[in-house]
Amino acid sequence: MSDQRIATAPGAAPAGQLPVSPNNPCPFLRALVANGYVGGHVVPLSRLSEMIGLASGETGSEQKEVRRKAWMVAVIANGLGPLRVFKSATSGAVLDELRNGPLDKHGGGSRILDAEANVHEGQIERLASFGKDCKDPAGGIEIGLTAKEIEAFMADNIKRDGDAARWYFPILMKGEWPVLLKILGKGEGEARYLSVAEVRTLFVERRLPERITARLPKPAAGR
Ligand code: HEM
Repeated sequence: MSDQRIATAPGAAPAGQLPVSPNNPCPFLRALVANGYVGGHVVPLSRLSEMIGLASGETGSEQKEVRRKAWMVAVIANGLGPLRVFKSATSGAVLDELRNGPLDKHGGGSRILDAEANVHEGQIERLASFGKDCKDPAGGIEIGLTAKEIEAFMADNIKRDGDAARWYFPILMKGEWPVLLKILGKGEGEARYLSVAEVRTLFVERRLPERITARLPKPAAGR
């Protein structure tokens, strides 16, 4: 499997995008920062959870639940000490200091992004190898991963990590790929799948599909 890097200048932002720190390892948050939905440094948890809630497409009490869960994750993202948690709760999460924080699995994830935020195409191919042909409700067939295949992918990530994998990694992972499937997925029920093409765009171009950004306020509306 080739593992050449395809994005070698993580600090450089394509036209119209803001630079994102390599110390932000979350593909979803990287896209929010790059496109100006949230700032790249200290982001109030209210703002962060609002953006995630809106991106989810849920409404009413279900959206409230998404926001609550996002808040709970973000409040411990920079450290578990009581002072740090208090600081996160009152001033915000520090998105360019997530690396080496409690949520960083140090290679226990997909390894699509390395520690310098380079994208590894071979690892996207590996993700695709867990997928299958899926029927796009908008027409056509594409490679995607349903919940079942995402489970298998995550289990293999843990296996690959060997002794370095901590007992709580599977818990952290539940807030990553399955949430991405929930937000970005196409189709309904068991057939709902995560498009590998859209995952590639998310990691490489730090861009969310238009049907998702349509749910978000225009970035210029203040972040
Ligand atoms: C509450 C705010 C969030 C924080 C603080 C956060 C933080 C992180 C961190 C630190 C990682 C790196 C984990 C690692 O590679 O070891 C990560 C990975 C990831 N995040 Fe987030 N995240 C948040 C919200 C989200 C949301 C809402 C989504 C989905 C829509 C998401 C999708 C992902 C995915 C798919 C990965 C796995 C990347 C991989 O395995 O290569 N995150 N996140």
